[in-house]
Amino acid sequence: MTPKSLLILAGDGIGPEVMEQVKRVITWFNAKGKVSFKVEDGLVGGCSYDAHGTPLTDETMQKAMDADAVLLGAVGGPKWDNLPFAAKPERGLLRLRKDMELFANLRPAFVFDALAEASTLKTELVRGLDVMIVRELTGGVYFGEPRGIETLPNGERRGINTQVYTTSEIVRIAEVAFELAAKRGKKLHSVEKANVMESGVLWREEVTKLGAAKHPDIKLEHMYADNCAMQLVRNPKQFDVIVTDNLFGDLLSDCAAMLTGSLGMLPSASLGAADASGKRRALYEPVHGSAPDIAGQGIANPLACLLSFAMCLRYSFNMAAEADQLETAIKAVLDSGKRTADIMQPGATKVSTSGMGDAVLAALGA
Ligand code: IPM
Ligand code: MG
Repeated sequence: MTPKSLLILAGDGIGPEVMEQVKRVITWFNAKGKVSFKVEDGLVGGCSYDAHGTPLTDETMQKAMDADAVLLGAVGGPKWDNLPFAAKPERGLLRLRKDMELFANLRPAFVFDALAEASTLKTELVRGLDVMIVRELTGGVYFGEPRGIETLPNGERRGINTQVYTTSEIVRIAEVAFELAAKRGKKLHSVEKANVMESGVLWREEVTKLGAAKHPDIKLEHMYADNCAMQLVRNPKQFDVIVTDNLFGDLLSDCAAMLTGSLGMLPSASLGAADASGKRRALYEPVHGSAPDIAGQGIANPLACLLSFAMCLRYSFNMAAEADQLETAIKAVLDSGKRTADIMQPGATKVSTSGMGDAVLAALGA
């Protein structure tokens, strides 16, 4: 049995605590003997800066390139807030995305029945919600040139970032979204600001062309990003798949995440293009950040990180049965009333990070 190699970059804040529960599940899968995961640990973010003076070393970058999949916890924290831009923890994550060419970021927002009441929105608005946000991840204003801060002749300073998309960048992310929509509700919302941005006009034209040429059976709708934010809290169940650029995707996915009750629940997958053998570079991470305010207390919710591992099983290793098994275990734990602090409800049983890990392992039959 060829081992599947996983590089684990737990990162900062609650990253290591939640990743610990994933490692327990990996150990359990290995012990069952049907698969073999070979796990290696590395540093990214502030912890890497502290150890090596950089948020990601070339050596770790190379390991990420070579691994079958990368599991990431979270990066950042107030300790590193005042570092120069290039040394900030977030640069480590952005370099991973860019150098691995992980252009397709899948951010599902779904509501577990047991948690419908934990949403800040009315229960009937979110019960059964299942939206997939497809965020472009290696282009747009995050990486566009020119960028920087310059001093003008009059002594004023000017900050510059550039929103830029090429047709091929738009088409490849739209194709991922159309394909996902085909397997789901056959409905795609493409989101930009074509009313004020040329890059948005191009985005709309290219997505429209691709839809007409290759996906006539998918119902395509265009929406401005500001309206989409409003519609997500007004009537989120109108959406099935949303495709959007890097910056709008960052904002809209946080917004969608909160519909589900807690940022602590949502996984994500970042995928590259498939090579000749169909294999993609891939990185899996919870959408929540490093949550420095609760780090080290053993109260963080590990479910987003565990669900990210389920996405890894599904998308990197084609292990749909195991992914289903893990997701079903998590659902059973929620149905049984176990809750970490962030999703605590009246009458439920509060558990710690490792207590939630215990419950998931027990539900898996460990
Ligand atoms: C995210 C985060 C990152 C982003 C940060 C940590 C760089 O907010 O993954 O959504 O802005 O992409
Ligand atoms: Mg974000």
